[in-house]
Amino acid sequence: MSNNTNKVFFVGAGPGDPGLLTLTGAACLQKADWVYAATPYEEVFADLLQGKTVAVPFAYRFEQLLEQLEQQLATGHVVFLVPGDLTFYSPFQALVDALGEYAVVVPGVGTANAASAHLKKTLDLPGVCNRAIIVSPRTLGDAEGSPDLSDLAAPGVTLLIYMNNLPLDQLVAKLRNGFAANVPIVLLHRLGLPGQEVVQGMLDDICAKVGERDYFNLATATRRPALTLVIAGETLAAKIDGAWWNERHETIWKDLG
Ligand SMILES: C[S@@+](CC[C@H](N)C(=O)[O-])C[C@H]1O[C@@H](n2cnc3c(N)ncnc32)[C@H](O)[C@@H]1O
Repeated sequence: MSNNTNKVFFVGAGPGDPGLLTLTGAACLQKADWVYAATPYEEVFADLLQGKTVAVPFAYRFEQLLEQLEQQLATGHVVFLVPGDLTFYSPFQALVDALGEYAVVVPGVGTANAASAHLKKTLDLPGVCNRAIIVSPRTLGDAEGSPDLSDLAAPGVTLLIYMNNLPLDQLVAKLRNGFAANVPIVLLHRLGLPGQEVVQGMLDDICAKVGERDYFNLATATRRPALTLVIAGETLAAKIDGAWWNERHETIWKDLG
C-alpha cells in the first residue's frame, strides 16, 4: 500500500434514508474523492455524491479492487457506503482485513435499529422477551447439527431475520413450530426508501395479508436478497405499563439523581 495518510472509510450508511447517515459518516463522505456504492445508495445519496467518482464495488474482483484502491489512496480518501452498518451481514470484512491500518470503520444505523424506531418498539422487553436473535436462513447452513429457524424461535425470543430466502408459508411454518404460539410478525420492506411497505400481522394471518407480493425476490431469476427484514416475537405487540419503571426507580435510579 502507498505510504501516506489517506484512508479507506467503511461508512455505515443506514438502510437507505440519507437522514440516517451519522455526522462522522457525512464528514468522511465530504472529504472522499472516490466512493464505492451499490444500488440503491448511488440514487438515494445522489446529492451527497456530487463531484465524486462513484463505482459499484461488486463489479470488481477482489485483487482488482485492492489494486485500484492502492492507486486511489495515493491521491485521496476513499469511502465505501456500507448498507446499514458493518456489524451484521456485511460483505466487506476481507477488504477491511487486507487494508489493515488504511481501513477505518465508521458505525452507522443498522436496519434493525431503523426497524425498531419505525415500529416504536424496543426488541427486548422485560417480562416479555429476554433475548433477541439475529439470523438469516441463507447463512444458517445445512451441515449436520446446524440449527434451523424452528430451533431458534422460542417463547421469550425476538427473531430478526435478514435475507430471508424461504417462501413466506414455509418461513411461517418454521416459526410457528419454534414459538409454539401464534406470535406477532412484521415484514419491513425497503425501510426508509422509496416504495417502503410494512406489513404487520400474526403468524396465522400474515400470508393472507401479504398475498401475492414477492417481498423476498423469490420470483426473480437472480433471487438476490431483498431489502426486507422480518421480525417475529411477542414484544412487537406487547404493552408495558409504568410498574417496571417504578421498580427500577425504587431499587436503582432514585439514589443516582
Ligand atoms: C447483506 S444484508 C446487510 C445488512 C446491513 N449490514 C445492516 O446492518 O442492516 C442485507 C439484508 O439487510 C436487510 N435490509 C437492508 N436494507 C434494508 C431496508 N432498507 N429495508 C429492509 N431491510 C433491509 C434485508 O434483510 C437485506 O436482505
